[in-house]
Amino acid sequence: MLKKNILVTGGAGYIGSHVVNLLIEKGYNITVIDSLITGSKKLVNKKADFFICDVSDKKKVSKILKKKKFDVVLHFAGLIRVDESIKKPKKYFLFNFKKSKIFFENCINHNIKKIIFSSTASLYGNTKKKKISEKNEVKPINPYAKSKLKFENYLVKKSKSHNLKFIILRYFNVAGADKKLRSGLISKYSTHLIKVACEVATGKRKILIVNGSDYNTPDGTPIRDYIHVSDLADIHYICAKYLLKDGSSQIFNCGYGKGYSVFEVINAINKILKRKIPYKIGPRRDGDVEQIIADTKKFNKFFSWQPKNNSLKKIINTALAWEKILEKK
Ligand SMILES: NC(=O)c1ccc[n+]([C@@H]2O[C@H](COP(=O)([O-])OP(=O)(O)OC[C@H]3O[C@@H](n4cnc5c(N)ncnc54)[C@H](O)[C@@H]3O)[C@@H](O)[C@H]2O)c1
Repeated sequence: MLKKNILVTGGAGYIGSHVVNLLIEKGYNITVIDSLITGSKKLVNKKADFFICDVSDKKKVSKILKKKKFDVVLHFAGLIRVDESIKKPKKYFLFNFKKSKIFFENCINHNIKKIIFSSTASLYGNTKKKKISEKNEVKPINPYAKSKLKFENYLVKKSKSHNLKFIILRYFNVAGADKKLRSGLISKYSTHLIKVACEVATGKRKILIVNGSDYNTPDGTPIRDYIHVSDLADIHYICAKYLLKDGSSQIFNCGYGKGYSVFEVINAINKILKRKIPYKIGPRRDGDVEQIIADTKKFNKFFSWQPKNNSLKKIINTALAWEKILEKK
């Protein structure tokens, strides 16, 4: 049987590179497009065809799309920092909406009919609900989330006018690293709690700043639902198979349905390290929500799926192991 061709944008980034590794293990032909604006070519699997190129470069992307017939596109390329998006909203509109739109129009012109899009739980905004389902109202409170919602809406509209199939995956907080340590978070400017805490644990940062301890949560710090990046990769593999078998368009939350506060994460790291990492309380960050936990019933039922890495300990252990070898990469 002929191998299916999958195009992955942002495959030199944190999540995209994990998904590429898994899809190659599963026997797919993978092509990666990445401009390396935040990614690294060291994270790209050697078995993938790799093009350093911006997704909005119509000419270069057209050439790639002409060379192979892609059965499905996985679109990870985008910018992800909420704090930066507040300072530079136009940049986020450009990268996460405009460039994505140019890219996808190019795909449509080359007869691509199936796409999986990396969206975010942050588009639910502040909510009083204990757990958020896909049916919940979306109310983005920062430009990053607004730019993601704009592309979601564009995809839904295009799918109707052009008979396309999409899967929108709304990730909650992605964390951890590959067990085989092929990939993990590389950004030196990451705002992800577990990444920053691991940098403190390995001596790369002096202190962890807890952004706000006056939230209306049991210990005053914000609560997040952390999903291991390897489980998220598995979700992409399942969705790609589903679209390849002509599955219908869907929106799915990607999380575990359990929340941890910032202090709970710090305590879990201290327990693993058997020492206390230094932290101090800082001001709240603009654009941060109080609590966000996924209702994951839809995906889990739809595919009778169970995560394999649903443990904060596993997430932290792999993130720590990655942080330790990162300099050598
Ligand atoms: N990490 C998370 O917790 C999280 C949560 C929700 C959603 N997401 C979404 O998942 C996707 C991947 O996130 P990540 O954490 O792997 O980030 P990342 O920064 O590690 O990866 C993004 C990749 O896209 C590339 N890229 C960006 N703009 C590009 C462009 N115009 N053309 C070509 N390449 C481009 C970057 O170089 C990078 O390799 C993003 O779309 C992000 O919004 C991530």
